[in-house]
Amino acid sequence: MDKEYSVIVDGKVAGRVVGRDRLGDIAPLVAEEPEVFIVYDANAAWVAAEVIEAAPGVRGSIAIEATEEDKSMDTVLLIVRSLLEAGASRKALLIAVGGGITTDLAGFAASIYKRGIRYANVPTTLLAQVDASVGGKTGVNLDDYKNMLGVIVQPVFTFVCADTLRTLPRRDFLSGAAELLKTFVIENEEDHYGRAVKWLTAGGSEAELQELVLAAAAVKAAIVSRDPFEAGERRKLNLGHTFAHAIEHEAFRRGDDVTHGEAVAMGMVLAARLSDALGVSSGLERRLAGDFAAAGLPVQCPYPVEVLAEAMDKDKKAEGSLVHFVLAERAGSVLVRDLSVAEALNALKI
Ligand SMILES: NC(=O)c1ccc[n+]([C@@H]2O[C@H](COP(=O)([O-])OP(=O)(O)OC[C@H]3O[C@@H](n4cnc5c(N)ncnc54)[C@H](O)[C@@H]3O)[C@@H](O)[C@H]2O)c1
Repeated sequence: MDKEYSVIVDGKVAGRVVGRDRLGDIAPLVAEEPEVFIVYDANAAWVAAEVIEAAPGVRGSIAIEATEEDKSMDTVLLIVRSLLEAGASRKALLIAVGGGITTDLAGFAASIYKRGIRYANVPTTLLAQVDASVGGKTGVNLDDYKNMLGVIVQPVFTFVCADTLRTLPRRDFLSGAAELLKTFVIENEEDHYGRAVKWLTAGGSEAELQELVLAAAAVKAAIVSRDPFEAGERRKLNLGHTFAHAIEHEAFRRGDDVTHGEAVAMGMVLAARLSDALGVSSGLERRLAGDFAAAGLPVQCPYPVEVLAEAMDKDKKAEGSLVHFVLAERAGSVLVRDLSVAEALNALKI
C-alpha cells in the first residue's frame, strides 16, 4: 500500500512518513540528492544494498553493529569521522538503514555533524517502523543510562516498507508487535487493534502487514505533530512503558534476557490492571492479556510489583513526586493520570 503522512512542527512539514510496497520505490526520494551517506546495520546489509542501488548520489556507507553497547558516543564519533574523511558537506543527507539502534544513532550523528545535516530513516525492524524511526527522538546510551544523550530532530523522511522485515528474527518481530498493539490501544480507528491481533494470531499477507504498519506510523506522526516535544499528549505513547522500564531495569539487574517489546507487553497488561483497579476500565487486563498471549507475547511479569515500584520510585525521585501513568478505558481510549508510585502500588495489590 502506497501512503504518505506528514510530521508537522511549528505549522510546517518537518518530515514525511512514506510507505511503499517495494524497496526500490525509494528511488524518487533520493534521485535529486547529490551527496548521500548511508549508516547501516550489518544485519540489514541487503536492505542497504538496495538503497545504494536506488540512490545515484551515494558517496559512502558505514556499517555498524546494532547492540545497546554500541549505541554510544564512540559509534557517533565513528560515524562523524567517516563523514568528515569522505568530505561530507552541510548539504549531505545521511540515511539510516536498520532498527531503532541504527536510526537513533544516525539521527544523533547527523544532528551534530557540522552543526546539523539532514537525515532520513529506512527502518528494517517492526519496532522502528511503527515507533523508533518516526517522531525525531535520537540519541545514545551513556554508561548504564539508556538514551541519556540526544536531541529531538525530525528525519526528512521515514521510508516504510514491510518487505524489509523478511529477514527479521521472530523474537525481534514480536518485540515490534508489542509496540504495534500499543499504538492501536492508544488510537483504534477502523478497528486496527482487532485487525492487528488477527494478523498476529492467524497470520496474513505482507500487504495487510504493510497497511497495519503504516496505520501505526500515521498515529505516531499525528501525535508527534500535535506535541513534538512531549509536553502533553505525546506521553500517551508511553502506555505500558512506566512498568516496562521498571521490568527492563530489574531484568538487567538479574541478568535476565527480556526484550523491550516483551517488557512493553507485560507493562501494558499491568497498566490495564491498574486501569481496572482504578475503575477507568473493566475487564481490560483479561482482554489484553488474552490477545497478547495469543499473539505470542509474554503477559505475566515475572517480578513482584513491589520490586517494580522500587525501580519506579528511583525514576520518580529524578523527576518529581508523581508519575504520569497512562491508563486505558478500552482499545482506542487512553488517558494520563498523575499518581504517586505508592498509590499505584496500592491499587495493583487489591
Ligand atoms: N527514537 C525513538 O523514539 C525510539 C522509540 C523506541 C525505541 N527506540 C530505541 O530503539 C532501539 C530498539 O530498536 P529495535 O528493536 O529496532 O532494535 P535494533 O536496532 O537493535 O534491532 C533489533 C535486532 O534486529 C537486527 N535487525 C534489524 N533489521 C533486521 C533485518 N531486516 N533483518 C535481520 N535482522 C535485522 C538488528 O541487527 C538487531 O540485532 C532501542 O535502542 C530503543 O532505545 C527509540
